[in-house]
Amino acid sequence: MPTRTATRTHPYTCGSCAATHAKWVGRCTSCSAWNALVETSASLATVAQLGAVQPITELESGAATTVPTGMAEADRCLGGGMVPGSVTLLGGEPGIGKSTFTLQLAAARVRAGGRVLLVSAEESAFQVRLRADRLGAVLEDLWLAGDASVEAILAHADRLQPDLLIVDSVQTVHLAADTGSPGSASQVRGCAQRLVVEAKARGMATLLVGHVTKDGSLAGPKLLEHVVDTVLELTGDRHHALRMLRVVKHRFGRTDEVGLFEMRADGLLSVDDPSRLFLADRAPDVAGSVVLPTLEGHRPLLVEVQALVVRATTQHPRRSPRGLDPRRLALLLAVLERRAGVDLGALDVYATVVGGVHVAEPAADLPLALAVVSATTGRHLGDDVVVVGEVGLGGEVRQVAGMERRLQESHRLGFRKAVIPASAPDPPPGLEVVRVGTLSEAVRATGLMPPGT
Ligand code: TYD
Ligand code: MG
Repeated sequence: MPTRTATRTHPYTCGSCAATHAKWVGRCTSCSAWNALVETSASLATVAQLGAVQPITELESGAATTVPTGMAEADRCLGGGMVPGSVTLLGGEPGIGKSTFTLQLAAARVRAGGRVLLVSAEESAFQVRLRADRLGAVLEDLWLAGDASVEAILAHADRLQPDLLIVDSVQTVHLAADTGSPGSASQVRGCAQRLVVEAKARGMATLLVGHVTKDGSLAGPKLLEHVVDTVLELTGDRHHALRMLRVVKHRFGRTDEVGLFEMRADGLLSVDDPSRLFLADRAPDVAGSVVLPTLEGHRPLLVEVQALVVRATTQHPRRSPRGLDPRRLALLLAVLERRAGVDLGALDVYATVVGGVHVAEPAADLPLALAVVSATTGRHLGDDVVVVGEVGLGGEVRQVAGMERRLQESHRLGFRKAVIPASAPDPPPGLEVVRVGTLSEAVRATGLMPPGT
């Protein structure tokens, strides 16, 4: 009969329903999940046995102690650093820079006085050494292992006692006890669960790297999100140098931080003034270009939204967005036609966010709509104007979150005018605002439509 608390006599825990078992079985007798049992270490089982019920008032308070990794952008995302014994999952598409990031992080930790064991089950030690040469990561207390078995990795950890263990990647390591092939759902889950248990028992911070594909079809990070303490995601467009480190889940702090990096020949370099970077190559006085103060997490970022319209050559005009949601573009074109009298039926519409950034937030509605109008009429907004606001189906312009921060950043970068929703808070002194209640009001107030149309 399965019990709920791991004990010495029932050391196997089901990763699916948490029932415990005396012996390893292929299928959990409690929830019928296949290959979900993981052996819980004896030390943890003892801890679980001793754990008593306590009033919350008698528990120690205070934030979890973090140990800085030494890499500023990573520490910013993690709220100061990694918590000993915590497990972090770093997800991202293949080739985006996860191995580069982890090697740099390992080097930073070692420079800050730590000892790191980096398990590279994907690449040979030789390949890692080559990269380390390039990244300046050849350091005394950075240890490499090429093992693919979790048992062997833990044996190395026993000997070295690292304060940070990095496993690159969780899809290529395996548990000897599990007969499934590496990368299979049961192996990925089993390895992660075992590493979580060991990390907690040893107080060793652990970073697991996991691949995600665009459609998320590979067994991987999605499967593990609930098992780990923190989930980071490294994203970016492979044709651009910008990489963003986002916090998807964080048990020890906030999840609205982002780290920004530029991928260069010598590794990832933190970007200190991203807005300036995105606007550096902006051409003056071009129709179809509108600057949006967007928010990445709680970090304001100025990006350029561009639109181009041309006469459609087929019966079905093209709607081609890049870095923007296609459904959002379609919706805005419909609203423009019905609520602002801008007829786009016979035109191909191209829209893009410059710099490889993806903007999913509704705050991009108004700038995108105005960029399309500007591209259609050939009139431009002016170089010192930013636009922000959500557009509803009725053509109304709605308030968006974080307006103060967006306007502050716009002002800092020398923009003098902002087109904002009517209900938005007051801007910082020195920034003129044009408040608009509807899309057609915005089109008129900005002079994008010739008078009399
Ligand atoms: P990598 O870290 O191997 O990606 P992942 O582990 O996510 O699959 O790096 C991917 C790309 O980054 C690689 O194709 C080359 C590029 N790169 C640089 O541009 N500069 C560098 O210093 C390094 C190490 C890699
Ligand atoms: Mg890699």
